[in-house]
Amino acid sequence: MNILVVGRSGMLASELARRFHESEHDVVIMGRPVLDIRDPRCIRNALDNTGPDLVINASVYGGQTTLEQAERETALAFSINRDGVKSLAEACQIRHVPLIHVSTDYVFDGRGTRPIAEDSPVGPLNVYGQSKWEGEEAIRATCERHLIIRTAWVYGREGRNFLRTMLSLGKDRHEIRVVHDQYGCPTWVRDLAQTILVLCNAVQREPASIPWGTFHFCGAGHTTWYAFAMTIFQSVAGLDVMTVNTITPIPATAYPSTVLRPRYSVLCCEKIRSAFGVNPPCWQDSLAACLREMYPCRS
Ligand SMILES: NC(=O)c1ccc[n+]([C@@H]2O[C@H](COP(=O)([O-])OP(=O)(O)OC[C@H]3O[C@@H](n4cnc5c(N)ncnc54)[C@H](OP(=O)(O)O)[C@@H]3O)[C@@H](O)[C@H]2O)c1
Repeated sequence: MNILVVGRSGMLASELARRFHESEHDVVIMGRPVLDIRDPRCIRNALDNTGPDLVINASVYGGQTTLEQAERETALAFSINRDGVKSLAEACQIRHVPLIHVSTDYVFDGRGTRPIAEDSPVGPLNVYGQSKWEGEEAIRATCERHLIIRTAWVYGREGRNFLRTMLSLGKDRHEIRVVHDQYGCPTWVRDLAQTILVLCNAVQREPASIPWGTFHFCGAGHTTWYAFAMTIFQSVAGLDVMTVNTITPIPATAYPSTVLRPRYSVLCCEKIRSAFGVNPPCWQDSLAACLREMYPCRS
């Protein structure tokens, strides 16, 4: 299949480029300035010039590590996460091209205590979550053949993410304070990209029987930011470059941020398991695999 990925150097877009390079699909990765999702004409040109059989949207504004930015730049967040997504969905619909779009656990308010299913009521707590939710709704209203994949707590060896932030702080400080009362499922970007590849293969093989709609995918099991950090530092203990020796658990209320985050962000992945046979790997195993790649001399 010819696949167009929107979002050039982002964490997921870069990983998709690597995964798809090893696959049978022909992939074009496109982002700014050639393809700015805010410009419908750019989108139309990109689709007409590349003629994709499927489009993957990996572009976003104001994700996990840039939430504050989205609160300040509300109009920009909505122009990319909602209006740009709507234009992309319209362009796909007109050309009968299926769209795979990535969304977030932040569409939920996190007030529950049980893993969250796809049809649970939403309640975004911040601009990023609200704009992503409205982007999802625009796709549902516009593009019949869509797969929306909500994921959470994505990390990898590149890009802005919690793992890299911890490793960087760990080389710089003696003490790090990490939130202990927010729960979620760390997701290795490699596992997410692999899952998207599985979906693309399914679309190629049996397009008529795809159960289009919204699915959750994240690492299996759940943890807190504090326990996630502890696992990271236990795994890299002994590296000379690490200066940190104390990880202090703090409540979310003591974390210096004005942006509300969901307290309980554990996504239920049963639907993608039964529809596509995708089994999310255990988050600790994936973290270990990622760290082995980052520090091969330790494995
Ligand atoms: N990271 C997480 O923890 C997390 C959690 C849940 C869900 N997700 C979802 O996963 C997806 C990928 O996230 P990520 O972490 O890979 O994000 P990222 O690293 O911040 O990358 C964002 C990408 O969006 C592109 N972009 C921004 N504005 C654009 C525009 N106007 N037109 C075209 N492209 C634009 C950027 O392009 P440039 O390369 O030009 O900068 C970049 O490639 C997003 O949908 C996000 O909501 C992420």
